[in-house]
Amino acid sequence: MLLHVLGTAAGGGVPQWNCACPGCSGARAHPDRRRRHASLAVRADDDRWYLINATPDIADQMESTPALHPGPAARRTPVAGIALTDAELDHTLGIARLREADRIEVLATGPVRAALRDRAHLDDVLTPYIRLEWRELGSAPVPLSEGSDVEISAIPLSAKRPRYAARDTGCDQNRAERRADHRGEHRDDGPWVVAIRLHDRRTQGTVLYAPALATWPEPFETALAGADVVLLDGTFWDDDEPRRSGFSTRTAHGMGHLPIDGPNGTAVRLAPFAARCLYTHLNNTNPLVDPAAPQHEQLAELGLAVAAEGMEIEL
Ligand code: MLT
Ligand code: MN
Ligand code: ZN
Repeated sequence: MLLHVLGTAAGGGVPQWNCACPGCSGARAHPDRRRRHASLAVRADDDRWYLINATPDIADQMESTPALHPGPAARRTPVAGIALTDAELDHTLGIARLREADRIEVLATGPVRAALRDRAHLDDVLTPYIRLEWRELGSAPVPLSEGSDVEISAIPLSAKRPRYAARDTGCDQNRAERRADHRGEHRDDGPWVVAIRLHDRRTQGTVLYAPALATWPEPFETALAGADVVLLDGTFWDDDEPRRSGFSTRTAHGMGHLPIDGPNGTAVRLAPFAARCLYTHLNNTNPLVDPAAPQHEQLAELGLAVAAEGMEIEL
């Protein structure tokens, strides 16, 4: 199985167009610090690739990756489909960017598919341009494409809905529910956010991709134990970062992202696992966007690192 890291930033990217925080300003001054939205490409077989999440940077990400270029026929692309970890805009807006194709497969869980169809009206908007061929993404492994040695499955992580698909705010939602939604408490009503597990039956290599980790459930822990490579939610360094930076009143937990640092942070939880663990989906407020930040050493001491764009991983 061959993987390409296409991007490593959280929503907004680094730099974010309307932000002059140290991370964004640093990336303007040092273009090598720029990060595109988090995404991963995986080769299903000799000439079929799938992208894990479709970001607003999707076209540039494909242009930067020769394996994803079209050819030799004028309109032949190796990109067969998209698999979604969730329905967030930073992971789905890129689908519309692919509308020049006749058709594309989209693998998603039930709630994610329903949100994109019924709340974002993606099918209504795109049907005149491209046929979206929806495939169910479930917990049972299935070949990524027909005859592929690479199998895909989903591990449910949380019921965090994107803001555009929040519960109805009319009279069918009581005050307690509205307050819970506002606090960022996500009651379980299906797999809105999943980790994607890719397993190559030929090489036995396994990768786990989880750019939005709000909880650390038992099946995720089990999957971690069997993974060779893990690309994990590195949105925020610490729990108070979103509030301290002044862009949110919520903590990292409240925004649906376990922080990296701290006694219950993901770094100490990941350290015991044998897998190669790489952080992705970095927010521009995360000190790790500065390559000279001492936090990189703190990670290295635990055997952890930040994923780099353009990174190729063979498993
Ligand atoms: C997230 O990762 O929490 C979302 O992408 C945030 C958002 O875009 O609202
Ligand atoms: Mn995001
Ligand atoms: Zn910023």
